[in-house]
Amino acid sequence: MDASQSNAPKSATLTIGDESWELPILNGTIGPDVIDIAKLYAQTGKFTYDPGFTSTASCESQITYIDGDEGILLYRGYPIEQLAESDFLETCYLLLYGELPTAAQKADFDYRVTRHTMVHEQMSRFFHGFRRDAHPMSVLVASVGALSAFYHDSTDISDPQQRMIASIRMIAKIPTLAAMAYKYSIGQPFVYPKNDLDYASNFLRMCFSVPCEEYKVNPILSRAIDRIFILHADHEQNASTSTVRLAGSSGANPFACIAAGIACLWGPAHGGANEAALKMLGEIGSVDRIPEFINRAKDKNDPFRLMGFGHRVYKNYDPRAKIMQRTCHEVLGELGIKDDPLLDIAVELERIALQDEYFVERKLYPNIDFYSGITLRALGFPTSMFTVLFALARTVGWIGQWKEMIEDPSQRIGRPRQLYTGATQRDYVPIARRK
Ligand SMILES: CC(C)(COP(=O)(O)OP(=O)(O)OC[C@H]1O[C@@H](n2cnc3c(N)ncnc32)[C@H](O)[C@@H]1OP(=O)(O)O)[C@@H](O)C(=O)NCCC(=O)NCCS
Repeated sequence: MDASQSNAPKSATLTIGDESWELPILNGTIGPDVIDIAKLYAQTGKFTYDPGFTSTASCESQITYIDGDEGILLYRGYPIEQLAESDFLETCYLLLYGELPTAAQKADFDYRVTRHTMVHEQMSRFFHGFRRDAHPMSVLVASVGALSAFYHDSTDISDPQQRMIASIRMIAKIPTLAAMAYKYSIGQPFVYPKNDLDYASNFLRMCFSVPCEEYKVNPILSRAIDRIFILHADHEQNASTSTVRLAGSSGANPFACIAAGIACLWGPAHGGANEAALKMLGEIGSVDRIPEFINRAKDKNDPFRLMGFGHRVYKNYDPRAKIMQRTCHEVLGELGIKDDPLLDIAVELERIALQDEYFVERKLYPNIDFYSGITLRALGFPTSMFTVLFALARTVGWIGQWKEMIEDPSQRIGRPRQLYTGATQRDYVPIARRK
């Protein structure tokens, strides 16, 4: 396929045998142009093949932009480094509405989110059906899915106002459900949200306070968790976001769609990587064993990979990883943790890997998960909660992308095709006659 060589090519020519077709080229505001193959099958009778969608733009979006080679991440055009200094609800507003809020808009948005933080009291009984040792992610998938049972008839997705109410409900209730999943797993009573606290402080209180003691939120730690939420808020068309869009493309209930996204996020190649990274650092155990693990990561016969290293899109330092590294040092400093052996291993592992030809050649850099596990553990979260926190933060991205998809006039039900390599048509043989 040859794109025409003029300054601004408008189409690409696809030639198969002696036949040629012109395929329109669509231009984004930044980033690679896109060859529009929507009519390819109708015109040529051929599909394209792209397992893992490494070269496929599944939608048009105005929310998040990533330049993986340069290590750039923009939400609605704003660099993540600058937004990391804002607060999470401001980022939520930006992702949902497309612009930064005025002071009055921000106050109104905070008020609306805060008014929706409680979950239906029936939800707490729903929780009690789970085993205590259930993974909090499984509890979160189920409880967010269950929200659809509470807000189905009241969510007409063709009504913009109801779409926004569903989005706000989702952002407001996810910390409450995440904290309930945690409290249930440790056998402590659920803590109701407290609406005079900011989003992150309220979450910390719901997780770590108990009825028998006063709980004072440490502002440095709540600032750190707020920043972690900002860093995870959206990341364009990754596996879980694509899952939410695909589920939503059939017109399904938005809470059920978010539950589908949470299920996808759970895997170790996606949201589960920070848990895996921390486990790996523990397994390495001491700085002198790092070379052994680096060698294992390079050995093609060994399934071991350096967790928290490498990224499908970033072929440069993940910009979020730098902020996360700084946040990690801030949290450990505030908590007076001077010598964290896992942090020492992480710093040294990063230093060695960044100089190693194998990692340099393949452009494998630390990703956000490399330092987030150490930070979250220091904040008091068990590893089983790490992906839950990721899901909490990503909920705004998922719901924003879902809303954008529903509002896109070109949106159709997602229906990928396949390269079929199974048996061709054959006749059924009754079991008695089979050899
Ligand atoms: C994130 C990840 C799934 C991206 O995968 P991908 O884009 O499909 O990249 P590939 O699997 O094609 O890797 C390209 C090459 O780098 C190697 N590689 C990628 N990540 C590696 C890692 N963490 N450790 C060792 N080698 C790695 C691959 O073996 C491959 O080598 P090859 O070209 O010699 O076969 C992958 O880097 C990974 O598994 N990382 C660890 C898990 C993780 O941290 N995930 C969080 C993502 S935010």
